[in-house]
Amino acid sequence: MWYHFFVMRILTRDIGGHVGEEITLMGSVDVRRDHGKLIFIDFRDWTGLAQVVFLPNNKELHEKASQIRSEWVIELKGSIQKRPEGLVNKNMASGEYEIVATGFEILSEAKTPPFDVHESGLDIGEETRMKYRYVDLRRSRMQKNLRNRFKVFQTVRNFLSENDFVEVETPVLSKSTPEGARDYLVPSRTQEGKFYALPQSPQQYKQLLMVSGIDRYFQIARCYRDEDTRGDRQPEFTQLDLEMSFVNRDDVMAVNEELLIKIVKELYPEKKIQEIPFPRITYKDAIEKYGNDRPDMRTDKDDPNLLAFCWVIDFPFFEKTDNGGWTFTHNPFSAPKPEFMSDLLEKKNIGEIITTQYDIALNGWEIGGGSIRNHRSEALRAVFNVMGFDDERIDKNFGHMLEAFDFGAPPHGGIAWGMDRLMMILEGEANIREVIAFPKTGDGRDFMMDAPSDVSEEQLKELHIKIVKTNK
Ligand code: AMO
Repeated sequence: MWYHFFVMRILTRDIGGHVGEEITLMGSVDVRRDHGKLIFIDFRDWTGLAQVVFLPNNKELHEKASQIRSEWVIELKGSIQKRPEGLVNKNMASGEYEIVATGFEILSEAKTPPFDVHESGLDIGEETRMKYRYVDLRRSRMQKNLRNRFKVFQTVRNFLSENDFVEVETPVLSKSTPEGARDYLVPSRTQEGKFYALPQSPQQYKQLLMVSGIDRYFQIARCYRDEDTRGDRQPEFTQLDLEMSFVNRDDVMAVNEELLIKIVKELYPEKKIQEIPFPRITYKDAIEKYGNDRPDMRTDKDDPNLLAFCWVIDFPFFEKTDNGGWTFTHNPFSAPKPEFMSDLLEKKNIGEIITTQYDIALNGWEIGGGSIRNHRSEALRAVFNVMGFDDERIDKNFGHMLEAFDFGAPPHGGIAWGMDRLMMILEGEANIREVIAFPKTGDGRDFMMDAPSDVSEEQLKELHIKIVKTNK
């Protein structure tokens, strides 16, 4: 197949610049239509569609064309012609042109696809869509979602790097972070009976990078949480994670607001942001007025192009647990608002302490959250004390953080956006699966790869693991 590298390939989006020329296209047969003497195919590549016609005068080619089926991958040769005025197809970007085929080569035949890729696919069972995800992703809607996701990520990367942020990768094999969900665990082969945890977020690492003097960090980070999957939740999902040194709450909010506005203005110009600067509402007011802490502030809920961002602030730091103790509402690493620091250190008026936590909501979804952190070890220790951890447990679980802060830590704060949720809303989808290339099904399975799956006895033995089946 070396040969193909030397053929000048034209993309369907560019055919207007090659009228009258003999060209080569590479892609798939979208549909074939036989009109007696004329055979038409809609030819598809990643840039769109083009109409190809096989004329009856070339008998051999015409006969060969009558055999091609949808989804076959072909290399097509032909000459581009302008269509007469009345025959322009306004529904196709290349509709002013037509390619008169002079030859083609079949690069790959295709079985009949498991479903029609011309429809939205939203009415097909998820099991089938996921099993044949590589076919499902051929839909123009899925192509658009993936390509736009990439554009949003590029805009994020460019903006942040222009603003002195450094992208740093952090480990996936790590230790449990108390983010509130169940951890995914990975058994260690070399350390018998010990486990890594997949990170629920890079929270601790990004704070440690602040201690390291990185000053402004970001990462497009994969996070893992073993919780029940829902429309806005996947067991593995992507965050835009960032952290900044020497900032207060408003500094972090301002950078994020600027970036969100830039994304919408540059990539979704048809959309309207309801209010700039984004309104801020306290947790208390949100609960009173909207009944939840991710208020949908849209003044017109029928308008798919309306984006109502808002910040939710002033959350209580702690809430009561079922057994009468205290736990954090958001993030144990958050700092209280400065006026509540002495209460935290003295562990009094616990229920009244307000945190620096800020969440960002969009059209009724929580798309991000963050806070200013406790950069002094005594304040972080006090948080865990309030939660009923004794010093031994604190040192065992978080000793590395406390110790790090004792080596000189700048005040710092940050945020993480749920990128899948943001993309879901920007693309007008109802489920984050529609903006993720290879998501898991509702019960956490990957039908295409057949994961999770059995492993061999030998693998288990190496990992010092014995499976005990429960009778469910
Ligand atoms: P938090 O846990 O609020 O904060 O997560 C940040 C954002 O990630 C998104 N999100 C999810 N998206 C898809 N599937 C999930 N299972 C899922 N869980 C969360 C949400 C949420 O707002 N380390 C802190 C951030 C910080 O303080 O800087 C954190 O992870 O949109």
